[in-house]
Amino acid sequence: MPDTSGSSLLQTSIGRLHLTNPVLSASGTYGSGWEARDFSPLSRVGALVSKTVTVRPRHGNPPPRIAETPSGMLNSIGLENKGADYFLAETLPRMRSLCPRVIINIGGEAIEEFVELTERFCKAGVDALEVNLSCPNVQEGRLLFSTDPRMCERAVAAVKRVASVPVFAKLSPNVTDIVSIARGAEQGGADAITLINTLIGMAVDWRKRKPVLGRGIGGLSGPAIKPVALRMVHEVSRAVRIPVIGVGGARTAEDVLEFVCAGASAVEVGTAAFVDPAILVDIVDELQRLLAANGTTIALLRGSLAAPLAAPSHGACPAPTHGAEGAAAR
Ligand SMILES: Cc1cc2nc3c(=O)[nH]c(=O)nc-3n(C[C@H](O)[C@H](O)[C@H](O)COP(=O)(O)O)c2cc1C
Repeated sequence: MPDTSGSSLLQTSIGRLHLTNPVLSASGTYGSGWEARDFSPLSRVGALVSKTVTVRPRHGNPPPRIAETPSGMLNSIGLENKGADYFLAETLPRMRSLCPRVIINIGGEAIEEFVELTERFCKAGVDALEVNLSCPNVQEGRLLFSTDPRMCERAVAAVKRVASVPVFAKLSPNVTDIVSIARGAEQGGADAITLINTLIGMAVDWRKRKPVLGRGIGGLSGPAIKPVALRMVHEVSRAVRIPVIGVGGARTAEDVLEFVCAGASAVEVGTAAFVDPAILVDIVDELQRLLAANGTTIALLRGSLAAPLAAPSHGACPAPTHGAEGAAAR
């Protein structure tokens, strides 16, 4: 009988990275955590994940950059950040002072930029790197690194060659076959896959005949995308041998356990923190209560979801399953 009484019931590992609990901040939604430091003790989250850092400063996209949607939000921040020099000097020490586990999310438009950032952050001492592969590859037609399995593999392999810490590949959901992209990242040597980044969408102001966002399109996040994230975490965790980190719409401990059951080793919480900056630590407390009440642990629950009746087949209409015909017909 497992010990489901103490804090060990929350423990999890992402490869060789051991965490006291599976609740992480999602890149870009929490800054460095510094702005939220007065709301709750961030030393209690599993790890803080930084906003994407690029080699040089980026000004980001034209405003407006945020639009609220039913059960979510659209953003087109455009990876605004002050660049690696500033981050290493100012932001990283602050993150370390807040939380014992720090994961740095890096972005670039060429493989050399990912490599440079990896070398610099490994030297500075971080717990893991999350590679934001939803960046355009300017050397190969501006296609996003994570929309092609081989491009994804090449980028991850280059990072892995110089990395001394675990490397997580963060993938875009805006693809036809997420499993093939995840396999590319695994072949490149990724230690884990983070799923999902935002879904591309738009909002329209019909009176002005204009899109609401300055860039026209943006990334959809929040509860609206949780079903997509759960499906991708489930599919990918069954197809690869490395751990999966779930992200997309989680805002309660129940949501976190759904992701864990679907196959996630940890779960990042993003948009929900805009509504309540203390939510990550509240989720950790509630997780402890829920797991103890149900006599289980994160380790026992991970990937325990019973197999679906029919494997999803991309591009084809799913065959109706017994009892689901009514829903399919609606
Ligand atoms: C305002 C905003 C900024 C974001 N910035 C980044 C970023 O810099 N790098 C990144 O990898 N993902 C970024 N994301 C995506 C989130 O990390 C996360 O993958 C996505 O929002 C889904 O999770 P959520 O529904 O819990 O927010 C951003 C999301 C939002 C809402």
